[in-house]
Amino acid sequence: MTPLKLGIHGAAGRLGQRIVALALADARFDLAAALVRPDSSLCGEDAGLYAGAGAAGLAFADDAAVLARCDVVIDVTTPDAAIALAQALAEAGGPALVTGTTGWSAAQEVALGEAAQAIPLLRAGNFSLGVTALTGQVRQLAAQLGRRWGVHIHDLHHSAKKDAPSGTALMLAEAVRAGWGHDDAPTRALPVGESLDQPPRAGEILITSAREGDAVGVHQVRFCGPGETLVLGHDAHSRDIFARGALTAAHWLAQQPAGLYTMADVLALTAPGSA
Ligand SMILES: NC(=O)c1ccc[n+]([C@@H]2O[C@H](COP(=O)([O-])OP(=O)(O)OC[C@H]3O[C@@H](n4cnc5c(N)ncnc54)[C@H](OP(=O)(O)O)[C@@H]3O)[C@@H](O)[C@H]2O)c1
Repeated sequence: MTPLKLGIHGAAGRLGQRIVALALADARFDLAAALVRPDSSLCGEDAGLYAGAGAAGLAFADDAAVLARCDVVIDVTTPDAAIALAQALAEAGGPALVTGTTGWSAAQEVALGEAAQAIPLLRAGNFSLGVTALTGQVRQLAAQLGRRWGVHIHDLHHSAKKDAPSGTALMLAEAVRAGWGHDDAPTRALPVGESLDQPPRAGEILITSAREGDAVGVHQVRFCGPGETLVLGHDAHSRDIFARGALTAAHWLAQQPAGLYTMADVLALTAPGSA
C-alpha cells in the first residue's frame, strides 16, 4: 500500500517531536511536511534530527502551503493556530485534519464543527487507548449510578502545560453529563493547585488540576455516593502513547468522508458519532 503523505503542524513541540520520530519509523506514512510557528528560527533545520530520530531529509517549514502535498495533517499546537489551520484546510477542501490541541473556547468548538463540514476532522482531547476506554467506562458508570452521586475529576500535568483543566478532564466531565443524560449538570473547575474542601454534592461535577514537574498526564475520576466512593484513573507514562494514537487516528481519518470524529470512532469503542 502506498504510504500516506503526512504533515505535522507543531512539529517542534513536545508532542510534535514524538510524532515526527514515530512517523519516520512507520511504513504507513511518508513524512511530507513539518510545520513550525511562522518566522521560527527552526525553519530549515532537519525535523528528524531535531526530534532525535536521525536525519529525515525534511526541513521544518513555516508556510502552510506545503500541506497541500499531504493526505492528512496532525495538529498539536494551540487553539488559535489550530483553528486558523482548520479554516484554511476547509477552504481548500483538504487534506484531512487530526487535532490533539486542547484548551478550546466555546466559539472555537463551533468553528471546528463548521470546518468539519468540508473536511474529515478528528478532535481528540487525549489520543491514548486507555483514556478513550476510560471515557466510555465513566459514561457507563454515571448512567448506572445516577445523579445521587457527585463526581470529582482531578488532572495532574507538567508545569509547562498551558490550559487547565486538561482537555481530558473536560472530556471526562462531558462523559459524566452524557451518562447522566443531563447536559446542564453543574460543573465547576477550581483554580490550578486548589484542592477540594468538601466532596461534590449529588449531581455535581468538580474538577481540580495540579501542574508539577514533568508529569505526562494523570487523571482520576471519583464517584462520590452516599457512604461510598468509586475511583477510576489513568496514568500516562510516556508521550509516545499520544503520538502512537495520533498516527492511528491519522491513518483511519484519511479514509473517512467529511465530518467531525473522535478517538472513540477510531477505536470503535462506541457507535460512530455517538461519543
Ligand atoms: N490529545 C492528546 O493526547 C494530547 C497529549 C499531549 C498534549 N496535547 C495537547 O497538544 C498541544 C501541544 O502540546 P505540547 O506539549 O506539544 O506543547 P508545546 O511543546 O508547547 O508544543 C506546541 C508547539 O506548537 C507550536 N506552534 C504554536 N503556534 C504555531 C503556529 N501558528 N504554527 C505552527 N506551530 C505553532 C509551538 O511553537 P513555539 O514553541 O514557537 O511557540 C510549539 O512548538 C497542547 O494543546 C496540549 O494540551 C494533547
